[in-house]
Amino acid sequence: MFKFMAAFYDRFIRFTGIDHSGSIPDWLAPVKDMEVLDLGGGTGMNAETLSRAGAKVTVVDASQAMLRRATAKNMSAVILHAKAEDLPLPDEAFDIVLISDAWHHFRDQAGVISEIVRVLRPAGRLYIIDFDASRRMTKTLAFFERLLAEPSAFPEPDVLVETLRQAGIEGAYRDLKFDQFIYCGIKK
Ligand SMILES: C[S@@+](CC[C@H](N)C(=O)[O-])C[C@H]1O[C@@H](n2cnc3c(N)ncnc32)[C@H](O)[C@@H]1O
Repeated sequence: MFKFMAAFYDRFIRFTGIDHSGSIPDWLAPVKDMEVLDLGGGTGMNAETLSRAGAKVTVVDASQAMLRRATAKNMSAVILHAKAEDLPLPDEAFDIVLISDAWHHFRDQAGVISEIVRVLRPAGRLYIIDFDASRRMTKTLAFFERLLAEPSAFPEPDVLVETLRQAGIEGAYRDLKFDQFIYCGIKK
């Protein structure tokens, strides 16, 4: 799906009003000099504002087309083509992991959790922004993504909190507009 969306992705996200890139550095603060892993980072919309705020950003994405758009932005970030389930990155290398609007696309979410726990430093922070599976707008979105042959697995935030707690990340979430939420957890 992202192979075809890459060319107009940024414009589409801005048009829909779900572009959080301007708020991300504040939501994740402090970010200056932090090693930030943007998982499923796509065209680098969030990576760009984070790197401008002084974070040392690594963008990982499974779509070459999306990453080409990120590379074209000439931002100060490491850009890696890889799957979130199998990261070519060392243990305990990151202060922050961000997953913005990408969690529901991950086919093996348990595998991604293992990788997050592995690459986060002790007391490192995990942020997940996604659509709440129990909300009506999310159900509509899931329908359209299925039409585009994208089998989405949207999270229920309470279930996500408990799943991550069992994996060693203690956190909570708050609601955002458009039936989205932001989760913040800390690796124990
Ligand atoms: C909706 S985009 C979100 C991009 C960016 N995080 C943002 O907020 O603008 C979802 C991204 O997740 C990526 N993705 C999906 N499955 C993935 C996986 N298993 N590993 C890494 N990236 C993946 C897609 O290629 C796509 O770029």
